[in-house]
Amino acid sequence: MNDTTLSIGVILGSVREGRKGEPIARWVMDLLGTRTDAAPELLDIRDFDPSFAQRWPERIAAHDGFVIVTPEYNHGYPGTLKNALDALYGPWNDKPVAFVSYGFSASGARAIEQLRQVTSELRMMPIRDEVNLRLGAFRTDDRGFPADARALERADDVMTELLFWGRLLKEGRRRRPARN
Ligand SMILES: Cc1cc2nc3c(=O)[nH]c(=O)nc-3n(C[C@H](O)[C@H](O)[C@H](O)COP(=O)(O)O)c2cc1C
Repeated sequence: MNDTTLSIGVILGSVREGRKGEPIARWVMDLLGTRTDAAPELLDIRDFDPSFAQRWPERIAAHDGFVIVTPEYNHGYPGTLKNALDALYGPWNDKPVAFVSYGFSASGARAIEQLRQVTSELRMMPIRDEVNLRLGAFRTDDRGFPADARALERADDVMTELLFWGRLLKEGRRRRPARN
């Protein structure tokens, strides 16, 4: 990791048995892992729940930005993801967050709309561009990663935007005294 490398937490929002989110989160990890300007860590809510009180604050504080990978459940996002967001405040502040959603008719976009409101309240910087994957409508490779060229290009553009804001906000946090 050099000075321009940002530490990025990739949050896997689904904890469901047989979840489709896992290969999608691993795809995002793989994409970030090919870049020299990002050091990604997978943050699987399953590994933290119900012990948010311990490692969760420390892991969130360690990162310069986040990607939330979320399914759509009843036009919203999973309650477990809300708990994980609500468990903290300061460690989220002044950091960018990008979204990757998946679902049926709206490709998970409605879950992201709600996450934009909630992450703004956490003083995060939600990235405008997003990745929306329509279940059953994209090809996957042998790892279960989306193999669609447009999805890959879109995801890469979103990560570039996340890292752009990540660098600005990291510098901003350094120059300004911490919030309390
Ligand atoms: C409780 C529940 C509610 C759902 N509601 C929606 C929905 O409103 N819109 C949609 O597109 N898909 C909906 N789905 C389908 C999910 O997006 C799909 O099952 C997806 O695989 C869930 O993510 P996961 O497998 O990672 O948990 C719902 C699934 C569940 C389990």
